[in-house]
Amino acid sequence: MAGSGSLALRTLPAQSWVRGSSPAVLSRLRDAAVVRPGFLSAAEEDTLSRELEPDLRRRRYEYDHWDAAIHGFRETEKTRWSEASRTILRRVQEAAFGPGQALLPGVHVLDLEPRGYIKPHVDSVKFCGATIAGLSLLSPSVMRLVHTQDPAEWLELLLEPGSLYILRGSARYDFSHEILRDEDSFFGERRIPRGRRISVICRAPPEMGPGELAQPPTAC
Ligand code: OGA
Ligand code: MN
Repeated sequence: MAGSGSLALRTLPAQSWVRGSSPAVLSRLRDAAVVRPGFLSAAEEDTLSRELEPDLRRRRYEYDHWDAAIHGFRETEKTRWSEASRTILRRVQEAAFGPGQALLPGVHVLDLEPRGYIKPHVDSVKFCGATIAGLSLLSPSVMRLVHTQDPAEWLELLLEPGSLYILRGSARYDFSHEILRDEDSFFGERRIPRGRRISVICRAPPEMGPGELAQPPTAC
């Protein structure tokens, strides 16, 4: 690449869909918290949401538990997919997971209603390994990551419909993640109004020591 081109790239501000508390955090997590806007074509988004709708419609949105991480949601774990969706999920696997790296067989499908949100949490190591990759459908949202030991360190990810996010390593283990509720849904100064959002989440299986019993891959 021409010298001037790479210089321009290097001096550009951080990607416009990731914000952070400091340039140091942004640079440290550059490969650990990744957003790929437009990962899905409009046709692919449509394929997924049409296929998921009948499964989801059969369930009711849940609110109840005061201590639950997720509010205003319904979810399912999907193992059988159309050929068109399998092609999309293979692309997610190639983009987010190493070659030959296993995934949990059930893909987690989470439907948040417009008022729904996800409180800060770290996915349980009992149910989930080092990598989490999520597709967002229907509504934009903001995912916030906060360092569990130092809340002054944070990232915000702007998740537009059709985007893929990847959390791995430090972003997955050392930071909590949350999906902001509509009232708090800002990417910096920019208001991101929340509608119904569906996420399709692929996870690496838990990394378990010898002798530990495998757990069913539910509710990370
Ligand atoms: C979860 C979670 C994020 C998303 O279910 O543990 O963090 O993108 N979901 O829906
Ligand atoms: Mn999570």
